Amino acid sequence: MTVNNALDTSLHYRDHFPVFDSVTYINSCSQGALSYEVRAAMNHYMNGMDDRGSLWDEWVMAQEGVRSALARAFKTSTTQVALTASASAGINSLMSAMDFSGKKNRIVTTGLEFPTMGQISHAQELRGAQVIHVPSEADNTLDLKKVDAELNDSTALLAITHVCYRNGAMTDIKSAIKLAHSKGIPVLVDAYQSGGSLPNQLR
Ligand SMILES: Cc1ncc(COP(=O)(O)O)c(C=O)c1O
Repeated sequence: MTVNNALDTSLHYRDHFPVFDSVTYINSCSQGALSYEVRAAMNHYMNGMDDRGSLWDEWVMAQEGVRSALARAFKTSTTQVALTASASAGINSLMSAMDFSGKKNRIVTTGLEFPTMGQISHAQELRGAQVIHVPSEADNTLDLKKVDAELNDSTALLAITHVCYRNGAMTDIKSAIKLAHSKGIPVLVDAYQSGGSLPNQLR
């Protein structure tokens, strides 16, 4: 997408977010700007609870629609998409499903992570995990050579963010994934700040 196209797109959507009329709002998180469409969907859900009680079929189908839309956005199949209540809940589901009781017990993560990535990693210590934090550099970037140095036979997981929530630093995530996969190590990518902003492809 060219800069002009991106600007056109953002101008098109700008009117959907009433908060932009009164403040410059750049908080991209669970308290992100609320659109008219999201408010309408929430009202629809609440009104349905009042009018008809359980709306299981309608909302399960709505969720399936979201899964399909996400699969298209991330260029993958719907079967590869699971919806969770939050990014942290997703990270927790994945990490708590892993076995850290054996020799492969190291979780390698970085100094650019959202706090819950670190907290959920450390929670796995109760189940035998050892957590290694690769610090970021003075300019807020990550030195992939330092990440690579921590990826060894005992590493169970590389848990790494694409774009840092704190400073916007972007990691060359393809190279990071390549390094880990070349050693047979699975990668958990937190693409919270890049999903929808940058092209991302899941396979
Ligand atoms: C990079 C990143 N990861 C994870 C999270 C946590 O998201 P959630 O509140 O959905 O758990 C955030 C929230 O801002 C984030 O910026």
